[in-house]
Amino acid sequence: AGSAMVALTLVRPAVAGGADRDSDVDVHIELRAARDQVAVRPGRPTEVWRYKGKLLKGEAGSLQPSDSYLGPVIRLRRGQRVRIELINELPEPTIIHWHGLHVPDDMDGHPRHAIGPGQRYVYAFRVLNRAGTYWYHAHPHGRTGHQVYHGLAGLLLVSDEEEAALRLPGGDQDMPLVIQDRTFDDDNQFVYPAAGHGMGASMMSRGGGGRGMGSMMASMMGVLGDRILVNGRQVQALDVDRRARRLRLLNGSNTRTYKLAWNDGSPLTVIGTDGGLLAAPAHRKFLVLGPAERADIWTDFANWKEGESPSLQSLPFEGGMTMGSGPLPDGSQFPVLQFRIVGSGPVEPARLPDRLAQLPPVQASVAINAEHPKVFDLTMGMMVWGINGRPFEMLQATAQETVKLGTHEVWEFRNEGRNSMMGMVMAHSMHIHGLQFRVIGREIADRFAAAYRTVQPGLMDEGWKDTVLVMPGERVRVLVGFEDYPGLFLYHCHMLEHEDSGLMRNYLVKA
Ligand code: C2O
Repeated sequence: AGSAMVALTLVRPAVAGGADRDSDVDVHIELRAARDQVAVRPGRPTEVWRYKGKLLKGEAGSLQPSDSYLGPVIRLRRGQRVRIELINELPEPTIIHWHGLHVPDDMDGHPRHAIGPGQRYVYAFRVLNRAGTYWYHAHPHGRTGHQVYHGLAGLLLVSDEEEAALRLPGGDQDMPLVIQDRTFDDDNQFVYPAAGHGMGASMMSRGGGGRGMGSMMASMMGVLGDRILVNGRQVQALDVDRRARRLRLLNGSNTRTYKLAWNDGSPLTVIGTDGGLLAAPAHRKFLVLGPAERADIWTDFANWKEGESPSLQSLPFEGGMTMGSGPLPDGSQFPVLQFRIVGSGPVEPARLPDRLAQLPPVQASVAINAEHPKVFDLTMGMMVWGINGRPFEMLQATAQETVKLGTHEVWEFRNEGRNSMMGMVMAHSMHIHGLQFRVIGREIADRFAAAYRTVQPGLMDEGWKDTVLVMPGERVRVLVGFEDYPGLFLYHCHMLEHEDSGLMRNYLVKA
C-alpha cells in the first residue's frame, strides 16, 4: 500500500509436470519478503526484514503473521504437491532456500536464481522428505548473513504417517523453538557488523556495515550477538503445564554454536535430528548444536514441580575453541530458554516409545569411492574462506565438484587450519544442499584432542543430517547419496559470514 506499483516480473522455471494451476497442487502459499517493524524487546520496535505469508490453497498451518520477525511456520505433509510464490519487496536481490528439503535444483534457492526487487519466483515441488524439522531462509550471493540476521528465516515442519502413529506430543505440546543471537544498538535496532561480499556497506545496519577492518574481521570470525532470542523474542520464561513436550530446537544463529543442557543436570532425550526421527531415543548430558542444526527433544515436564523453573543453558566451551566472544565469551554459561511450571493437577507419566522410526543401516561400502573419500579442506586465504584453497565462484565449472546421479560417495571435511591466519582454527558447520546424509566417522588431531573431549559427548551423529559440525582439528566423513535430481547444488559452511566470504562450493549432479 502506498508503494508505487512495480510490474512483477514472473520468473517461472520449468517445472516437471507443471504446477501452473491451483488444481495441480495441494498447497499454495505466497511469501512476501518485505521490510517491517516488530517488537523484539521492550522499547522501540526493531526494523526487520521478514517473510509475510498468505495461504492461497490447502492447509499449511495458520501462516498467521507471527508476532516476531520470523517467517510463518509452514506445516506440510509428506507427498503433498506444493506451490510457493516468493515476492521480493526488498531493496536488493533475494531468494529462498528450503534447508534440508530434497527438491529439484531450480527449486533449491541457489543464489544464481536470486530475483531483484519487485520480482517473483515460483517454487513448485513435491514434499519427498520424511517428517522432520526443516527451515527456510534467504540465500542471495554474499548477502545471506545480512538478510538472515535481519529476519529472513522461518520453520518448515513436515509430518508423515510413520510419525503420526507414534502419537508424539502434538498441538501446543509440540513447540518449535528457534534459537538466535543478536546485538542491538541504543535504539533497539539490530547491529550487523560484517561486510557483504562485494556489495558495499550494509543498507540497514546502523553502526555497522562499511568495509573497514572491523567489518572484515566480522566476516572472517563470524557475527556473534550478545543477546539470545528464542522465536524472535528476548529470553523469557515460557509457562508450561506438567505434560510431555516435543521441543524442536533449531540453531538459527549466524555463527554461534550452543552446548545445551538442562540446568539441573538431567539428560536431554533426543528423538530427532536434521532429517527427522531417530531409530530410538538417545540421551545426552549436553547437546552441541552448530548453526542450522536441529534437535528434536522430548521432555516430560512432570519431572518438575509446580513453581519450578527448568531452563536450557548453554555451557561454556573450553580450551580456546573460539566459539564465542564479546559479552557471551567462551568461558561463560548463559540461559537460552527458561520454562515455568504451572498447574499441579494429577499427571499420569507420559510414555515415549522406545522405537521411533525405521532407519536404513549406514553402509559406507555402497559408496563408489568408499576406499578413497573425496577430501575437502576448509581453508582460509587472504581474508577469504575457501574449500581446497578456492573461494566460492558462482558458475565457474572448474570450481565445482561433479558427481553422478544415482550414486553414493564418501566426503571428508577437514578442518585443520590450512593457511589460517595466526594459526586460528574455527569450527565450521558444513551443510550440503538438496539431500540428507549420514555421518560415518570423525577423527581429531592430537593437539586439539583435549579441548575436543569437552565437546564430543554432545555431538549427535545418529540419524539423518544435512548439516554437521566440524570442530577445530577435526576430519568428519559423511556418506552422501545423489538421488532423483540432476543439477547444480551447493555445499558450504553455515556460519553465514563464512559462507558469504567464500566457504562454499557448487556440486553438479550429472544424469
Ligand atoms: Cu541453510 Cu545454503 O543453507
